[in-house]
Amino acid sequence: MASSSALTGILAALGISIATYYAYNIISFLHLYILHRSTISRYLASDSSASETRSWALITGASDGIGLGFAHELASHGFSIILHGRSPTKLAAVETALKTQYPKISTRLFILDVYPSSASAIDDYVRGLANDGVRVCVLVNNVGGSALTSPTFRPFTSLTAVDVQKLFELNVGFPTLLTRALLPVMREPALVLNLGSAVARVPGPLLTVYAGCKAFNMSWSRSLGVELRAEGRQVEVMGLLVGEVQSSQHRDLEGPFVCTSRVLARSALNKIGCGKHTVVPWWRHAAILALVERLPDALQDRIMVGSSTTRMEIDKRLLEMQKRHL
Ligand SMILES: NC(=O)c1ccc[n+]([C@@H]2O[C@H](COP(=O)([O-])OP(=O)(O)OC[C@H]3O[C@@H](n4cnc5c(N)ncnc54)[C@H](OP(=O)(O)O)[C@@H]3O)[C@@H](O)[C@H]2O)c1
Repeated sequence: MASSSALTGILAALGISIATYYAYNIISFLHLYILHRSTISRYLASDSSASETRSWALITGASDGIGLGFAHELASHGFSIILHGRSPTKLAAVETALKTQYPKISTRLFILDVYPSSASAIDDYVRGLANDGVRVCVLVNNVGGSALTSPTFRPFTSLTAVDVQKLFELNVGFPTLLTRALLPVMREPALVLNLGSAVARVPGPLLTVYAGCKAFNMSWSRSLGVELRAEGRQVEVMGLLVGEVQSSQHRDLEGPFVCTSRVLARSALNKIGCGKHTVVPWWRHAAILALVERLPDALQDRIMVGSSTTRMEIDKRLLEMQKRHL
């Protein structure tokens, strides 16, 4: 009798703990995605139209995709924009579009191919900004991706040494070197956003090096944020875990868990000031990631093998179609 009431007590305590855990998660989710109010305006000087007090945002890989989305969203808040990329023609077109849509902001270009990453070219550019009195207060480390020509989903052993180096430079080397050069001269309060990927949390096959680089982005981002806070610097560092987004490399993507680059950028800026080191900006990406992460590893692996193999087949078919049309 006594043992059965003890068991009932244990089961009741277990039930309450599980219910509290899920209630807490659901309330946190609703708070972040519905109730939270962004503090992005904290980084905007009160008179951002005067040349000496302009609030500058530097966005890497801003000629297309998510970087382009961030350029438009930050410009719409009143930030002046430094567009980084490798194509002068594409960047000039983006600059013209921004100036037309947001006539009050200023723009600058930072043209540099990130492969091979050159610490001295980055340092020179940052020194030039300081000489011109340009104080950056928002850095979006967006440039990144597979760095490979199609097909991007490939077995690890088929990668060349150059493929591996390019993946490291694009996703790890360049953002790390740029942040190292820029942080000492950023105007505070400052914001640093680092683009990661959901594959950092649920890595699958055929994207091995990319997934590893994106995991670096997230742990480096958190470590840096904690270090700067401990030093008393007013720098908010946030890692962004991104699911599938329509961008230059993924224009064909569609479905309920795919968003546009603008939606992703807007969702990310809406999370500023939430106090988290790492955020999944778009609620649908967050919901699906939370679901998948709660599955047993073996099931997660099966899902990732299925989706990566499908993406490799699609990549191959697109490549064959392109070759036929050449
Ligand atoms: N899209 C997704 O589904 C997805 C998912 C998870 C994470 N992410 C992450 O989100 C970030 C942006 O991805 P995205 O899909 O928007 O990429 P994207 O559309 O391919 O755009 C990448 C940007 O980086 C520039 N870039 C590429 N290689 C460069 C190089 N060697 N030197 C200088 N600039 C270079 C591109 O310039 P050009 O215009 O000249 O090519 C473009 O401006 C990446 O960090 C990626 O890992 C994306």
